[in-house]
Amino acid sequence: MSSTAITDIAALVTNDPSLGDGSPLGLIHDAALVIEGERVVWTGESSKAPATDNRVDAGGRAVLPGFVDSHSHLLFAGDRTEEFNARMSGRPYSAGGIRTTVAATRAASDAELERTLTRHLAEALRQGTTTFETKSGYGLTVHDEARALRVAAAHTDEVTYLGAHIVAPELADDPAAYVDLVTGEMLDACAPHARWIDVFCERGAFDGDQARAILTAGRARGLHPRIHANQLSHGPGVQLAVELDAASADHCTHLTDDDVDALAHSDTVATLLPGAEFSTRAPWPDARRLLDAGATVALSTDCNPGSSFTSSVPFCVALAVRDMGMTPDEAVWSATAGGARALRRDDVGRLSPGARADLVVLDAPSHVHLSYRPGVPLVAQVWRRGERR
Ligand code: NIG
Ligand code: FE
Repeated sequence: MSSTAITDIAALVTNDPSLGDGSPLGLIHDAALVIEGERVVWTGESSKAPATDNRVDAGGRAVLPGFVDSHSHLLFAGDRTEEFNARMSGRPYSAGGIRTTVAATRAASDAELERTLTRHLAEALRQGTTTFETKSGYGLTVHDEARALRVAAAHTDEVTYLGAHIVAPELADDPAAYVDLVTGEMLDACAPHARWIDVFCERGAFDGDQARAILTAGRARGLHPRIHANQLSHGPGVQLAVELDAASADHCTHLTDDDVDALAHSDTVATLLPGAEFSTRAPWPDARRLLDAGATVALSTDCNPGSSFTSSVPFCVALAVRDMGMTPDEAVWSATAGGARALRRDDVGRLSPGARADLVVLDAPSHVHLSYRPGVPLVAQVWRRGERR
């Protein structure tokens, strides 16, 4: 197996507090990193780097773990430009827009769905995302949910069954029948292709009791829960996430002190999705309040055609620093190690020996530039599984 050293790194974010400056970022200055196969095998000061087969000079730039985008909805078809346009002219966002995408997705071929998925994945990779989760939720029939997950599973291990996005339009008058479908025949068809099960727990989507029934049924089939919780209004989603040991409660825009406290005393990650608040002109989730209470926070794009059509983790990092009270260090941690926690992974989101060699070389001397220079394409190189992409 050949080895490669990346040397002359001005600042290396390892996310291993036992390394470098001892902060949560485990920051090493004037650093090098050695890759063997698809793994990191050594990190330390550049002057002490061991001999390797190949050497790549980072030229005094910063290196950090590839972003772990733990929440996206990329199995879709159709276009909602006009909905966004109307919203920016004053119309409010509602979960109802999902129906537009459901109609277009049902009408699309598998090949079309796959083309849209891979186009957005390539776009995300160029912006530094090396691990991503994606969901179904725009099919809402047994056939359409299962095929979305089949397409997704060909491109990532982190696949989430979101049959419970909204009640399928044809069963709008009989939500109980739709919950039966989601927990029955649809679950049977979808479980083999997914690792996770998710519910949109919100007024206009699913209430707490329905969400509990859906997630519990998924768990019985070996899927692990995560929840769209407390996005548009306060609701039972966060408490349910903690009760069921969900890997993450996503959005967390409307929280009580009890919700914050429950998250802080659990293994459930609060995944914040500022692209959604940006694109719906909604109030920002309060990352500072969660961090000060001791909760683990992840940052993710929520990339979807309705509420957050961005695949850019750097954009979310900049928003989180500017508007959600995060420090630049915290935001970078949340977009890397935090995303990994939200997916219960320890092989990604860090750059210490044993980790997957997924990394970003920035055209900047420090990771802080991700929020200091918003909107600038700073991602100079992306390495995934030890190879430059
Ligand atoms: O995470 N909250 C529910 N689902 C998506 C929005 C989906 C859509 O509008 O198409 C979200 O924001
Ligand atoms: Fe979402």
